[in-house]
Amino acid sequence: MFEVASLRRQFPALQQSHDGRTPIFLDGPAGTQAPQQVIDAMVRYLTRCNANHGGVFRTSVESDAILDDAHQAVADFLHAPYAEEIIFGGNMTTLTFHLSRSIAKRLQPGDEVMVTRLDHDANVSPWMLAARDAGATVRWIDVNPEDGTLDFDSFRRQLNSKTRLVAVGLASNVLGTINDVTTIAREAKAVGAWTFVDAVHFAPHGPIDVQAIGCDFLACSAYKFFGPHVGILWGRRALLEGLPAYKVRPSPKELPGRWMTGTQNHEGIAGTAAAVEYLAEIGRACPEYRDPFSRMHGRALDVHAGMAGIQEYERGIGGRLLQGLAERPRFRIWGIRDVSRLAERVPTISITDCSLTPRQLAERLAAREIYAWNGNNYALEISERLGLEPHGGFVRLGLVHTNTADEVDRLLQTLDEIVAD
Ligand SMILES: Cc1ncc(COP(=O)(O)O)c(C=O)c1O
Repeated sequence: MFEVASLRRQFPALQQSHDGRTPIFLDGPAGTQAPQQVIDAMVRYLTRCNANHGGVFRTSVESDAILDDAHQAVADFLHAPYAEEIIFGGNMTTLTFHLSRSIAKRLQPGDEVMVTRLDHDANVSPWMLAARDAGATVRWIDVNPEDGTLDFDSFRRQLNSKTRLVAVGLASNVLGTINDVTTIAREAKAVGAWTFVDAVHFAPHGPIDVQAIGCDFLACSAYKFFGPHVGILWGRRALLEGLPAYKVRPSPKELPGRWMTGTQNHEGIAGTAAAVEYLAEIGRACPEYRDPFSRMHGRALDVHAGMAGIQEYERGIGGRLLQGLAERPRFRIWGIRDVSRLAERVPTISITDCSLTPRQLAERLAAREIYAWNGNNYALEISERLGLEPHGGFVRLGLVHTNTADEVDRLLQTLDEIVAD
């Protein structure tokens, strides 16, 4: 069974209070809190086997074993076929620029790359710059402004035999829309294009199966799914082996070393494996969510069941917040509002107020120990497309599975107090 109270107890950050108030963390889309086991794994790494990669002595051997397990843990998290396909790096943005520079080598004038108006800029600018460097053309997939879904007509109209790559997010980091990346990957493949999926925002909210999606690359970041600040890139083995990788000499030919530049954040990678283990433990406590993942085994099955449990729980608190906001018409909800469409979104709910600016509203929430981001959150195109950029963007209320129905109620009550002031 999914037990939010016992999960919350595992997070030291959730136990703090300030001026008698327990903070409500709604800033998960910019980084989630970490459970004790993630913190312990990092401390243990630094205490016991802090060493560089590839040495013949005990600490380096132990460190390499921890790193190998972390590649496998993330492969389980993404249901990747091979642990060697998991590349760690500084963050998603850095890894995407790294890959885009290599992909640019395979582009030529006349080729096309597609990006969307819904994505975080980390899945837009690297591809725009790759296209610029190669003399290729950028095509934009538009958004339906009324509900923040991708405009599939605009995708299909522009997809053609010159398309080389489609870069799309699995979920929007401002509107919460879940995109049908499986259909996009299938249709892209049919014209010979690769699909790069930005799963950074979706990762804490539901199960990810790169094989079922059928994409070619997928990136995410551990600090958005209860781990430390580590970026993750998955790619199909044949592509990672075949693309030219930018590396110092002597550059390893094998994966994953071929794509991992410099000395990695080993303690962070140890913490990343612990974050996957935390999510797998949720799955072990929720066997009722295993059925759709019966083709998986071991930790992959556990972590996918755990994410399915999280997804169902989040639909409850997300629906509660949407409902409460709908009863307060001075707040405009951007994106899917309809509670019968909760399966199409994650509980990241961006709002604007009819009189306070996003910054003023976020400041007033902050003064009451409710932590939420204001601005465009680097989803620059959608903020512009919706006409919000000149007005300071949105206030993003980002729920994750450690939030509770009581917190949603306190948030709604606080919003009432703020506007009554
Ligand atoms: C959807 C999305 N993509 C990409 C990024 C960038 O991730 P990173 O900070 O790991 O570079 C973020 C960060 O907020 C994000 O929300």
